[in-house]
Amino acid sequence: MKKSSPVSRSGRFSSGPGADVAQFTESISFDWRLWEQDILGSIAHATMLQKIGVLTKSELAQIKKGLEQIGQEIFDGEFEWKPELEDVHMNIEAELTRRVPAGAKLHTARSRNDQVALDIRMWLRDQIAELSGELQLLQKALVEFGAKNPDVIIPGYTHLQRAQPVYFAHHLLAYVEMFARDHARLTDCFQRVNVCPLGSGAIAGSTLPLDRELVAKLLGFVDAQGKPQLTQNSMDAVSDRDFAIEFCSVAALIAVHLSRLAEDVILWASSEFNFIKIADAYTTGSSLMPQKKNPDIAELTRGKTGRVFGNLVSLLTLLKGLPMTYNRDLQEDKERLFDTSDTIRATVRLMAAMLQNTSVNRATCEEAARDPALLATDLADYLVRKGMAFRQAHHAVGAVVALAEKLQKPLNKLSLTELKSVDKEFGADALEVFNLQKAMSQRNLVGAPGTKEVARQLARWKKTLG
Ligand code: ARG
Repeated sequence: MKKSSPVSRSGRFSSGPGADVAQFTESISFDWRLWEQDILGSIAHATMLQKIGVLTKSELAQIKKGLEQIGQEIFDGEFEWKPELEDVHMNIEAELTRRVPAGAKLHTARSRNDQVALDIRMWLRDQIAELSGELQLLQKALVEFGAKNPDVIIPGYTHLQRAQPVYFAHHLLAYVEMFARDHARLTDCFQRVNVCPLGSGAIAGSTLPLDRELVAKLLGFVDAQGKPQLTQNSMDAVSDRDFAIEFCSVAALIAVHLSRLAEDVILWASSEFNFIKIADAYTTGSSLMPQKKNPDIAELTRGKTGRVFGNLVSLLTLLKGLPMTYNRDLQEDKERLFDTSDTIRATVRLMAAMLQNTSVNRATCEEAARDPALLATDLADYLVRKGMAFRQAHHAVGAVVALAEKLQKPLNKLSLTELKSVDKEFGADALEVFNLQKAMSQRNLVGAPGTKEVARQLARWKKTLG
């Protein structure tokens, strides 16, 4: 006679699955990571079951003690996971029931369908909180890097061609803005993760008078006012993974921003730019070329974007076309979700650490920023100040640039006569436009890379990030 497992699904099955089937269907190899959430969820559920009279006080105490012991063993790496018990939920419950007979009552009015939805939501809440903090540390690293080099000016680029001068800090603060939007998106996403699905059962709730509010409160599923947040449709609750997709989509956008930052770092660290030097510990050598110092962290950051995007597309594809309600397909959500969070969090941490160990090559930056062509637009503004229409001024300065090229002179080395040969509006003060410090002091619109404005933005971010 077949010995039934302590957590038997029913008396209906005459034989268990074959080894190949068990291996194909198991999820314990990855969902063991939900053990802590699973235990906390079970303790809250049991607490509620006692309150509504399903468990006695002593049964609740035994269940709690048993679950806590199991939790400690898992934490210490002493718990034996059994693949034949499929997933984290059955492994824990089976072991509990083996130790504590009252464990057999724990699953009252609960299904693995609402249980797994609960566990993922709880796990994701923690991940969002951690990632939000890590994102802010990355923002801090960017702000500090800029604040350490407040007077460094570099060319700003469009089309990867030199455009106009900007403070190095201004360039870095562009990323601080991107990550601030990501942070806000995470906060928004959290609100929809933080809704308690327990009590939805397999699909249709329960005939027993569960206290869903109590469970939600015990597990912290509350809004800012402390009001419990409950899913409002049992069918939606057990099959919804929108919250995971939202997180993966926020993560994908974070990956985009990280990848762009990585690309800037890679360019800046190249011999061609040579704007920055990454500390040795954050680079690697070449096995063949002894002179190489490669920006591998930045490259991997750029590369890992692929899997973060891939995970998002996997989840979207997984959900599409699923009939209501829970389908086993949903088990495929976890590896993609785990991988997204692991990847994005590690990347954010490593990029912050790398930036903290990167220095600016002031001399190269200065030389690049000294290119007078960067101030050609300022020369057009000079003519506009004299009353010329901008289109006409643009045309005149274009002719000045062409003349300088023809004479093989830098723009700021043209004589007044040469300038006047292009347009009589140029006066003796025209060349003052090429005073870089003065030029930088004049761009103080909100959000512009002016001396005062960049200092203001740096101070604002320092204050915001604490
Ligand atoms: N391991 C399953 C998952 O990750 C748990 C839910 C299983 N439910 C079920 N009815 N087979 O989705």
